Amino acid sequence: MAWQISSIVFTRLALLLLLFSGCSSRQTDNESTQSNRSGETIKIVLDSADDDRLIAFYFGSYLNPDEKLSDLVEFKNGSWWMLGPTKSSGDAHLAALYAAAGCDAELDWDELETQVIASYYQVRQAPVHVDELASKIGDWKSEDWFSHELNGQMTTFKRRLSIRKEALFAAIDKMDALSSDVVYAVGTAIVGEHLENDVVVETTAMIKRSDNYWDYFAYGPDGQLTGKVKKEPEDLTVPTKCVGCHFGDRLFEPERSFPSESRPGPNGKRSLYVADNFKNPTISKTISEHAKRSDHVLGLYATLFLSDLNARVRKNTATTRELEIAEKLGISRISN
Ligand code: HEC
Repeated sequence: MAWQISSIVFTRLALLLLLFSGCSSRQTDNESTQSNRSGETIKIVLDSADDDRLIAFYFGSYLNPDEKLSDLVEFKNGSWWMLGPTKSSGDAHLAALYAAAGCDAELDWDELETQVIASYYQVRQAPVHVDELASKIGDWKSEDWFSHELNGQMTTFKRRLSIRKEALFAAIDKMDALSSDVVYAVGTAIVGEHLENDVVVETTAMIKRSDNYWDYFAYGPDGQLTGKVKKEPEDLTVPTKCVGCHFGDRLFEPERSFPSESRPGPNGKRSLYVADNFKNPTISKTISEHAKRSDHVLGLYATLFLSDLNARVRKNTATTRELEIAEKLGISRISN
């Protein structure tokens, strides 16, 4: 009996010791990397060629506009580190992210992904319904918005893309030449509605954040915020799968071939359904908007607007403000 009890006590003690030594080694390991802050640092190991951008986007998601990324992570000795709890990381979601690293004090991709998916919508204060989204960014079905439809590669549904005309105009206004980057102002929203027999079955939105990344949101057939967008063979998880394409350099149809028609894909036709005045090969090629994706935006908004402007300049229907832009970008001199 006495032997049994002491064996149980011994096993518990051994377990405790094991746990304790596992986590206490974290302190020693980190002494050399300790910064001059109060908390310990943990190493971020994503093993991706795009570490810098992914870390800026994911960790930046946890910050308020007045906080700096450097309050949260730092690049030192060839690696990225998450700084220990400081005043900026007192938030429960950040504490959970920090704790997710576990005893090895290394935050790997699986640990980061789990935390991001669980907390992204809360930390970004995503509107919980499309109606709330519309009251935040404006009604994208109104005349103030520029919309076009397409069948592309993000989804098998037909898609209607909408951007506020003023937001598009402001980005174009900042271009010095047709080959300049197309960069949108903070707060710009772009909406992609998925249509089945003209009924909206899903809505996706990107809203430009103050750190110049975009937030990614998705809504289901009932208009409620959802963490997944339909896709075969696997649904797209927000935001991790979204940035997979939006940060990458893979070219998609029909944007890649536009204004030429692209070949059909496994799910049928891939096409941008716009009138001929929106198709100008020289303008499309010079802007090279999809390939360049200067702002993580994959659609052809500036290309379409400027091609149409070119047609309107020739028809004398452009406004004075538009004529100034056409002149600056050399649009007026481009024939069809
Ligand atoms: C398979 C690659 C791919 C993935 C994954 C992807 N997108 Fe896209 N996305 C595109 C392409 C291509 C476009 C432009 C054409 C289109 O809309 O089909 C686009 C356009 C958009 C737009 C309009 C703004 C723009 O860039 O032109 C929004 C909003 C958007 N995507 C949201 C999302 C969200 C939210 C997710 C994650 C659920 C996501 N995307 C995942 C490829 C992708």
